[in-house]
Amino acid sequence: MNRIRIFDTTLRDGEQAPGASLAPEEKVRIALQLARLGVDVIEPGFPVSSLGEFEAVRQISRLLPAVEICGFARAVKGDIDAAVRATEDAASRRLHMFLSSSDIHLDFQLRKSREQVIRTAREMVAYAKQFVEQIEFSPMDATRTGEEFLLEMVEAVIAEGATIINIPDTVGYALPEEYGQVFRTVREKVRGGETVEYSAHCHNDLGLAVANSLAAIRNGATQVEVTVNGIGERAGNCSLEELVMAIETKGAALQAETGIAAEEIYRTSRMVSQAMHFPIAFNKPIVGRNAFQHEAGIHQDGLLKNRSTYEIMDPERLGIPRQMIILGKHSGRHAIRHRIGELGAQVNDEQMEEIYRRFKEKADAQKVVTDEELMRLAGAVTKEA
Ligand code: KIV
Ligand code: ZN
Repeated sequence: MNRIRIFDTTLRDGEQAPGASLAPEEKVRIALQLARLGVDVIEPGFPVSSLGEFEAVRQISRLLPAVEICGFARAVKGDIDAAVRATEDAASRRLHMFLSSSDIHLDFQLRKSREQVIRTAREMVAYAKQFVEQIEFSPMDATRTGEEFLLEMVEAVIAEGATIINIPDTVGYALPEEYGQVFRTVREKVRGGETVEYSAHCHNDLGLAVANSLAAIRNGATQVEVTVNGIGERAGNCSLEELVMAIETKGAALQAETGIAAEEIYRTSRMVSQAMHFPIAFNKPIVGRNAFQHEAGIHQDGLLKNRSTYEIMDPERLGIPRQMIILGKHSGRHAIRHRIGELGAQVNDEQMEEIYRRFKEKADAQKVVTDEELMRLAGAVTKEA
């Protein structure tokens, strides 16, 4: 099994979602939860961008000795200095530097030649390497960069000491086969390429961020950059919970695993949604309101017999409470019926009366009636009818 490192950029790339910005103390609260969730690396912000950002990164660096902290920087000395200072108290840290590599960005944004960009990349990686051992380098817009120049840039930064190569699909343009192929090519052709770690960073403009990240894993990436709830610029980033559960559910096929504590997923998702004022779509995989609800009668019938008929994951394993209210001898007909409905079953009035009678007998004999017991009871009554 390949251990995939989860690099969380909710507090940096995720925060670039319009309206999602956070106060430093909210960043700290979310970072503490991300540590509980078990992410391997946290990118808490962009230190040079404001004093608040700098402080947030500094505080998080001091508070989380078990997580690697990443300082984010353009290939500019001022950015690098700020990122180095903000993370200097971290027990373990890296610097993440990015510089555009596509002709579109070079011509219209940077207005620099390829030679100038390679020179800057070399100089700035060498500069950062004096202060920090672990240097992650991102050729921005890598998936719209010609193969030859991408290889040249990656080779140049490895030669100067970059230890992690991140390949961003900045505008969410790649198809899974194409994205996988970029990793294969870079790993095979770059001189020194066998000495570094490879990382995927996908945006969701075509709804392919998770599929592309999985393609990268199949082609040698051992780190994936994600955000909670897939929050981020435009259509967002690769969603942490979707990627992690795809790996957990299909781990054998992918030969991959993560260190994420799945039971913290739901709590983390709610916290981020609330703090960033970013509602979660009802049908969002894993954490959406409907992700484990069943409407169709055939599905309910199957679920009553065995949950695995229509559920490929156990929501309780993700920390999703099946039981918002505890059912016991004080519960009334309405709550019981509502709960039965929430669990995906439907009963008529007559069946409900019989369920209610048997429920009270059971509740008198024990403190609480679990969902499983209620489902079994409802299943027995509906079968008899
Ligand atoms: O999407 C992107 O290209 C980025 C990089 C700067 C890593 O967020
Ligand atoms: Zn990004």
